[in-house]
Amino acid sequence: MTMVSDHEIRAVSTELTKTRYNRIAPLYNFIEAIPELIFKPWRIMLLAKAKGKILEIGVGTGKNFPHYPSGACVTGIDIADRMLVIARKKASKLGLPFDLSEGDVQSLHFPDNSFDTAVATFVFCSVPDPVQGLRELRRVVKPSGRILLLEHVRIDKPIIGWLMDRLNPLVVRIMGANINRRTLENVKKAGLRIESVEHLGLMKMVKMIFAKTDKA
Ligand SMILES: C[S@@+](CC[C@H](N)C(=O)[O-])C[C@H]1O[C@@H](n2cnc3c(N)ncnc32)[C@H](O)[C@@H]1O
Repeated sequence: MTMVSDHEIRAVSTELTKTRYNRIAPLYNFIEAIPELIFKPWRIMLLAKAKGKILEIGVGTGKNFPHYPSGACVTGIDIADRMLVIARKKASKLGLPFDLSEGDVQSLHFPDNSFDTAVATFVFCSVPDPVQGLRELRRVVKPSGRILLLEHVRIDKPIIGWLMDRLNPLVVRIMGANINRRTLENVKKAGLRIESVEHLGLMKMVKMIFAKTDKA
């Protein structure tokens, strides 16, 4: 019997995630148009705290770009090149000199302590190994820095949580996103310290998390 390593499973899942987001890239802004009416004020609140050298992971189509403080120095990555094509057009339309490239948050190509702030909005639902991705953010953010997250999570209520678990495989297949992630627990597992959490939206399903690296 051939044994498959965790590393190989992660590589295959990451390729699948990339394929799914490349597939939905042309429709992404359309699909998200209605939820975006709710998300936009949360993005504004989150990004008001972004300072110094900023890394945004999973930039998608660049929905956060207009909300960074003016003059912000942003490096952005995404695993899906077709999402990046749209993000680049948006940055250019807004006249923002952001540095955008393809990359995987689970294995970042930046040295330790490179950034003051890391940002992720609605990303850790689709990263195959979210704890590894969060560990990478901890590594590349300076000890004095901060990690800003906006993520939807599993609702911890008996029937709804159970339903989310049952529906999850279908949603992953269509959208590439898991609807039952326990992101607050994952943030702690990655060695980050949660500074504050705001519980937002329907049944408090969305969490705005500010975390510190807690490293010397
Ligand atoms: C739901 S979209 C969110 C996009 C954007 N952050 C927003 O708020 O609209 C998730 C994004 O994360 C990207 N992504 C998924 N896994 C990733 C990974 N391992 N590394 C980097 N980006 C990833 C996807 O390609 C996609 O663009």
